[in-house]
Amino acid sequence: MASASQHFDTLCIHAGQQPDPLSGAVMTPVYFTSTYLQEGLGKHKGFEYARTRNPTRDAVQGNLAALEGGKQAIAFASGLAATQAILELLDGGDHLVLGNNVYGGTFRLVDKIMARFGIVYTQVDTSDLAALKAAITPKTKLVMLETPTNPMLGLSDIAAVRTVVKEAAPNAILAVDNTFATPFNQQPLSLGADLVFHSTTKYLNGHSDSIGGVVVTNNDDLAAKLAFIQNAAGAILSPMESFLILRGTKTLHLRMARHNESALKIARWLEARTDLTAVYYPGLESHPQHELANRQMKGFSGIVSFDTGDTEKTRRVAERFKIFALAESLGGVESLVCHPASMTHGSVPAADRAKLGLTDSLLRLSVGVEAAEDLIADLEHALKA
Ligand SMILES: Cc1ncc(COP(=O)(O)O)c(C=O)c1O
Repeated sequence: MASASQHFDTLCIHAGQQPDPLSGAVMTPVYFTSTYLQEGLGKHKGFEYARTRNPTRDAVQGNLAALEGGKQAIAFASGLAATQAILELLDGGDHLVLGNNVYGGTFRLVDKIMARFGIVYTQVDTSDLAALKAAITPKTKLVMLETPTNPMLGLSDIAAVRTVVKEAAPNAILAVDNTFATPFNQQPLSLGADLVFHSTTKYLNGHSDSIGGVVVTNNDDLAAKLAFIQNAAGAILSPMESFLILRGTKTLHLRMARHNESALKIARWLEARTDLTAVYYPGLESHPQHELANRQMKGFSGIVSFDTGDTEKTRRVAERFKIFALAESLGGVESLVCHPASMTHGSVPAADRAKLGLTDSLLRLSVGVEAAEDLIADLEHALKA
């Protein structure tokens, strides 16, 4: 059995899991069942119906809670379902402060769905603490941000944001999307966030073969409300996906160490070229928030964005890769390249993309765990376009 005093690497492999009580199976079984036998009226083993509880989901929730240094995790069918559950903590008329460079789907969920139910929102650059303070109103109940952001890799100082939020709106919840950093590199709860959430689809699962999401917290009241939403709204993580994520997190520490190392090598290699107009990576000394990155993060994760300054050239480059696959998503063992303006961020209005520097000539790399030399050779070949 894992205990909270163990190291991250040990928690990756053991937290939340124990040999199956029936057979002794060391790996958590996938409990494909919708219901459970009850011995008598009201007499059961704590499992009544599988939307409410499933032992495989219990295990992955225990694992992910431990990795984020939280008490409880609540797992959902996708990252967006987890995000929606957090938004459902609000009532119509409540105000949300949303980071100005959140994932396009997060923005779409807020703008096109939650706003219809009366949630009022203001988007703000949460790295600018004065702007953040100015955006908070007496009705602000939630501040939701991503750090690093997708795909511009801007950072917010989570501890400083916490201070501003608690002063300006003491009852507001601070929720941090930690999908890009992962708990290997950054643990928002320890920096004062009330909720940390993920698209487990990315690094936590790590093999691009499942969709899922999770919210982790140390706050019992919020955990109870989220568990209620999980059951009442029903967007639960399936047993099979729970199993896949459990298998993924067993190597999270190994994978993240390589993602960090290779992405830094590639970012440095890109920065040394003369044919690019910008390279974005928090691990580069030239990144405007490199000092914060060093303070807040253990490593800088596997996402590197760069700009050729020429949309037509970017189109040609994107189509020449032999190892990097042109595809949405990120965080798997295999390397991917994405054109955010037309793919992940297509739902963000063009004017807002322009303000962020998210140009039509920007490409985002998800650096996988192949040999870095082969990835650099692939980039060299593609950039000859
Ligand atoms: C940072 C971030 N948060 C949330 C999501 C949404 O997750 P999902 O696709 O699992 O719904 C994504 C998806 O790309 C993401 O990149």
